[in-house]
Amino acid sequence: MHREDFGRVRKAVFPVAGLGTRFLPATKTVPKEMLPVVDRPLIQYAVDEAIAAGCDTLVFITNRYKHAVADYFDKAYELEQRLEKGGKDDLLELVRNVLPSHVRAVFVTQPEALGLGHAVLCARPVVGDEPFAVLLPDDLIWSQGPGALAQRLELARARSAGVVAVQEVPREQTGSYGIVAAPHFTDRSGRIEAIVEKPRPETAPSTLAVVGRYVLPARIFDCLERVTPGSGGEIQLTDGIAALLAEQPVLACRFEGRRFDCGSRIGLVEATIQFALEHEDLAEDARRYMRAALGD
Ligand code: G1P
Repeated sequence: MHREDFGRVRKAVFPVAGLGTRFLPATKTVPKEMLPVVDRPLIQYAVDEAIAAGCDTLVFITNRYKHAVADYFDKAYELEQRLEKGGKDDLLELVRNVLPSHVRAVFVTQPEALGLGHAVLCARPVVGDEPFAVLLPDDLIWSQGPGALAQRLELARARSAGVVAVQEVPREQTGSYGIVAAPHFTDRSGRIEAIVEKPRPETAPSTLAVVGRYVLPARIFDCLERVTPGSGGEIQLTDGIAALLAEQPVLACRFEGRRFDCGSRIGLVEATIQFALEHEDLAEDARRYMRAALGD
């Protein structure tokens, strides 16, 4: 069985080309990934997680309407100058830390919305022949210890295998996720034997659902080249992984932390509440307001 070297994963891919229709009209002009959770856009949380896990090349797969994401990671000369002149060092640091100087951002346009697998395939010229990470910014993961991606990378290195994050979901929700069959799942991880995109509850092989954090070998690109449109008529990353399973092991791994589905309105509200309750400056006021609002 083929073994990959996952010793050093430097590149992280962020598919951000979706239309964000669930957040219309806000997403008419603001990409979903730029919606804030407290004081940072959604994309920043995923970017920070990737950098904390050791990635230094961030590949954003965008569509031609998403200038806001590129602008956000670009240097803001005028703003920085004004903050510097005004002696606002703390704000200056915040703005500069959006992208630390050792990290580079690369933007690749996905010419057509052909699905998540196709978006990942668009990263091939930048990723080349190395193992890499994929982070779906909609899945915001709150964790007190190491981030969800760092947890995946540790396992990928230890077992020389690709890793997909999973969590248990109620059976009636299997149609919203990639679902894995990992019959020898221990309490945290197990080898995936099958993976299917958005199965109906009655045909789902389990209730272990894929969450948007993946560590994958470059070989996935060849698999994605061969994938034909699947669920929703799209080229699915899940189907690429299913093809990869025939060649090399891929593990499913639970993560420590809580996931917020910020692709849905209630998920974004929940994340905002959670992060406000954890925020240094806001926690106390947020708690007080919530008690009052709930009439406790
Ligand atoms: C995507 C993946 C799916 C995964 C989910 C996690 O679906 O295709 O396998 O379970 O992300 O958030 P989407 O939510 O983009 O429909």
